[in-house]
Amino acid sequence: MNWSDKKVLVTGGASFIGSHLIDALVRLGAKVRVVDNLTSGRYDNIQAHVETGTVEFTPANLLEMGVAEQAVRGMHIVFHLAADHGGRGYVDLHQAACATNLVVDGLVFKACRDEQVEKVVYASSGCVYPNYLQTDTTKELYLSEDLAGPPYDADNMYGWAKLMAEMTLRSYYTDWGLKSAACRYFTVYGDRGHENHAVIAMIARAFVRQDPFVVWGNGEQIRNWTHVSDIVSGTVLAAEKIDDATAVNLGTMERTKVIDAVREVLRYTRHDARIELRPEMPTGPLNRVADNALAKRLLGWEPQVTFMDGLHRTVDWYFSTKHRQEVSATLEHRLTER
Ligand SMILES: NC(=O)c1ccc[n+]([C@@H]2O[C@H](COP(=O)([O-])OP(=O)(O)OC[C@H]3O[C@@H](n4cnc5c(N)ncnc54)[C@H](O)[C@@H]3O)[C@@H](O)[C@H]2O)c1
Repeated sequence: MNWSDKKVLVTGGASFIGSHLIDALVRLGAKVRVVDNLTSGRYDNIQAHVETGTVEFTPANLLEMGVAEQAVRGMHIVFHLAADHGGRGYVDLHQAACATNLVVDGLVFKACRDEQVEKVVYASSGCVYPNYLQTDTTKELYLSEDLAGPPYDADNMYGWAKLMAEMTLRSYYTDWGLKSAACRYFTVYGDRGHENHAVIAMIARAFVRQDPFVVWGNGEQIRNWTHVSDIVSGTVLAAEKIDDATAVNLGTMERTKVIDAVREVLRYTRHDARIELRPEMPTGPLNRVADNALAKRLLGWEPQVTFMDGLHRTVDWYFSTKHRQEVSATLEHRLTER
């Protein structure tokens, strides 16, 4: 795809992932528009591009009538990332807020069809997979795309909304020919990430020298944290190579226990703290790792950043950009809010 011919909208483009996607799209030469209400996105994530005129920014709420139509008008490709979203502390504790994603997604997809957008690329999630499959940490389970099927058992209202959006896009393709791709992101981390996600929460606790050092759950939860640079490259490839609303996992196949990630954060930051496990706090599914064979086959995509390397880079970013007093004062709030 020749991106320099393309007008591209990124909804939620001021976000952690959205802003990294915009960096990549600008490098590729695309003309980028962003619509974001800045509820969790930050203007400074995209400010440099806006000031050089390479990105057009509209602060607006996609839930309001007419905003989606205006945003997508004249666009070739729409990357739809805007969502009421946060990490585990957020999605477990804010069901109604996450349910508004059903409305945002519906409005954006309908506007794309009405305005004859060439293609929609949707930020879906590992949260579409049935919870009941992900309870046993002794199983070496890799979630392949076909496992998001009946009997459906998505992860919170957040996961149900992602699943409904995928299904909507499939129907739009079958019935109305709207081209699309859905990318199922798995627990993304990296610079510009938020403390309501586990990796950044661990780093923030180390940054403020928390002792005892709190870990939600018993530490045995398994995840495949995936670096934001890999998520961005997969999302761009999905835009180039998928037309038929196929959903594809973007996640590493590295299996890491929460407690092992915590130990590495403590070691790397030279923080010698006592670990306090808090099993009553939200943990999400106990065993969630992607199978990424389909992404390899359809996109030629493979993650390039190992978890250890990405973790160290993310610690370095956090420690070099944050202020200890400010993080200390707000950390408890940041763990569960956007
Ligand atoms: N971070 C992850 O681990 C992860 C995993 C799976 C999927 N995702 C999805 O990727 C996308 C980006 O996530 P992120 O981690 O960068 O988080 P994020 O929550 O910061 O991104 C959402 C963005 O949408 C904006 N937004 C929310 N509601 C809006 C509205 N009504 N109108 C306009 N803008 C609105 C927010 O200000 C924010 O910039 C989201 O769709 C999220 O669900 C993220």
